[in-house]
Amino acid sequence: MGKLEGKVAFITGIARGQGRAHAVKMAQEGADIIGVDLAGEIPHVPYDSPTMDDLNETVRLVEALDRRILVEQCDVRDLEKMRSFVDTSVADLGRLDIVVANAGICIPARWDETTPEVFQVTMDTNVVGVWNTVMVGAPHLVTAGGGSIILTSSYAGKKMQPFMVHYTASKHAVTGMTRAFAAELGKHMIRVNSVHPGGVNTPMGSGNMVDALTHAAESNPALNQMGTPFLPVWMAEPEDIANTVAFLASDDARYITSEHISVDQGMQYF
Ligand SMILES: NC(=O)c1ccc[n+]([C@@H]2O[C@H](COP(=O)([O-])OP(=O)(O)OC[C@H]3O[C@@H](n4cnc5c(N)ncnc54)[C@H](O)[C@@H]3O)[C@@H](O)[C@H]2O)c1
Repeated sequence: MGKLEGKVAFITGIARGQGRAHAVKMAQEGADIIGVDLAGEIPHVPYDSPTMDDLNETVRLVEALDRRILVEQCDVRDLEKMRSFVDTSVADLGRLDIVVANAGICIPARWDETTPEVFQVTMDTNVVGVWNTVMVGAPHLVTAGGGSIILTSSYAGKKMQPFMVHYTASKHAVTGMTRAFAAELGKHMIRVNSVHPGGVNTPMGSGNMVDALTHAAESNPALNQMGTPFLPVWMAEPEDIANTVAFLASDDARYITSEHISVDQGMQYF
C-alpha cells in the first residue's frame, strides 16, 4: 500500500520537470492528481517553453499507473481560472489533501541588465502564482480536516543565487510565505513546508540557459564558486526532489511544519 493511498494532490507546473516527477511519484504512492500548467510560451526565459504534448505526456504517465488525473492549461497568475478548475476537480475526485506549488520561472540577468519586465514577471509567477495556488487549494484542505502544502523555493530561497536578484527575492518570499501560512493554517491540521533544490536536471537548463548564465557570470567571476556542492554531484534528478515532496505530503511527516528542506548536495553552506 502506498504512502498516499486515497489522497488527492493538486500540483502546479505539472507538464514537465519536477512537477511531472511529483505527479508520477504521488500516483505511484496511490494519490489521484489535479494539475495545471501554462504549457505554452513563457516570455523572457532563455530556455525552451513547455507544450501541450508535455502536459499530455504527464497525463499518460499517471494514467499508466491506474490513477486518475485531471489537468488544465492554466496560468498560475490567473487566480479565478485556477480556482474554478480546482473547485470543479475537487468536486469530481471527492477531496483534496495535498497542494504542491511548484510552477516557477528562472531568468538569469546581471543586476544592471535586469529590466522591470523581468523583475515583474518573476514576482508575478514565483510569488503571486504561489500565493494564488495556496489560496485556491487551502480551503479544500480545511474542509478535509487537514493536509499538507509544499511550496517549491530554491537554494536561492535560503542563501542567494548570483546574477538573479529578482529570482532570489522571489524564492525568499516563498520561504517567508511558508512560515506565515504554516502559522495560520496549523489550527486546521494543515502543514506547510518548503523544498529548496539546488541544480536539478530539468528543461529549465535547455535552450540558451547556459549561455545566459555564462554571460551573467562573466561580470563577476569571483561569485562563480558559490553553490559548490559538498557531494561530488552538481545536478539532482527531478525524482530526488519528488521523493522529498512525497515524504512531506505523507503521514511520515505528520508533525513537520514550517520547515525548509534543502535537496542541494550541501551547496547552501559552501
Ligand atoms: N531546475 C532547477 O535547477 C531548479 C532549482 C531550484 C528550484 N527550481 C524550481 O523548481 C520549480 C520547477 O522547475 P523545473 O526545474 O521543473 O523547471 P521546468 O521549466 O522544467 O518546469 C516548470 C513548469 O512550470 C510551468 N510554469 C511556469 N510558469 C507558469 C505559469 N505562470 N503558470 C503555470 N505554469 C507555469 C512551466 O510551464 C513548466 O512546465 C520552479 O519553481 C523552479 O524555480 C528549479
